[in-house]
Amino acid sequence: MKVLVATEKPFAAVAVNGIREAVEKGGLELALLEKYTEKAQLLDAVKDADAIIIRSDKVDAEVLDAAKQLKIVVRAGAGYDNVDLEAATAHNVCVMNTPGQNSNAVAELALGLMVYGARNLYNGTSGTELKGKKLGIHAYGNVGRNVARIAKGFGMEIYAYDAFCPSEVIEADGVKPVASAEELYKTCQYISLHIPATKETKNSIGHALLSSMPKGAVLINTARKEVINEPELVKVLEERPDFKYLTDIMPGNHAELAEKFAARYFSTPKKMGAQTAEANINAGIAAANQIVDFLKNGNRKFQVNK
Ligand code: 3PG
Repeated sequence: MKVLVATEKPFAAVAVNGIREAVEKGGLELALLEKYTEKAQLLDAVKDADAIIIRSDKVDAEVLDAAKQLKIVVRAGAGYDNVDLEAATAHNVCVMNTPGQNSNAVAELALGLMVYGARNLYNGTSGTELKGKKLGIHAYGNVGRNVARIAKGFGMEIYAYDAFCPSEVIEADGVKPVASAEELYKTCQYISLHIPATKETKNSIGHALLSSMPKGAVLINTARKEVINEPELVKVLEERPDFKYLTDIMPGNHAELAEKFAARYFSTPKKMGAQTAEANINAGIAAANQIVDFLKNGNRKFQVNK
């Protein structure tokens, strides 16, 4: 049986070696489609795949139609908004993610962006320090927890809001839980976003929340661009010369933001939060092992289209 690694943004070579080893040890064959530029290449590569490992690569109904032998798709990472779960279920394809495997990498980048913001995008002017500043973590999952752990080392005062995580869990980490997103944004100068892109969260971060942030507000986004209401973000940046937006996911209106707010806006050219050898090894090999365990033993532990 064939396992296809289809990654428009490839894993580090060392991770691919690890994936190959895990796949071959499981008696399966590995095929690679890296840095593809056309959907047609993906449609062709999936034809004889029994399993696929992806990153942010889009798996929609057309891909699933083309993949006649497909039994499982594993998103090597956390967010699976790039996979059409309904279509996968209709095609009897199991979809999994690899929760937690790349979260430290994303959290380290979030803190890196915070330092970059505090030091005025390294433009040589006098900046500020993170020590003693209030940080609001929006969603306390695997990445949020790692952000809290690292931010403690910087001496930040840490708050978190998560509609699905019990307060006691947040408190146990020495982080202050708050009752609503509104309270989090009103309280914290720094906000680090870790919400997934869902029907409920898309466009949910807009003028009301952002304009309520304290003076010197910095919004860090290592989650998804879709959760931001982009026109309203522009409005906030226009109204508040003290507001900074630093993101790892290039917004749809990047050109406008870069032109109008160059001193207070930054985006990485390509999402790179999880782009470390360690995260690639962890998530990639976890994905390979989950596929082997599913195909051999029927283990569905990490299935997300239940
Ligand atoms: C994730 O959801 O795991 C992160 O956003 C990383 O995505 P990537 O694998 O496309 O870098």
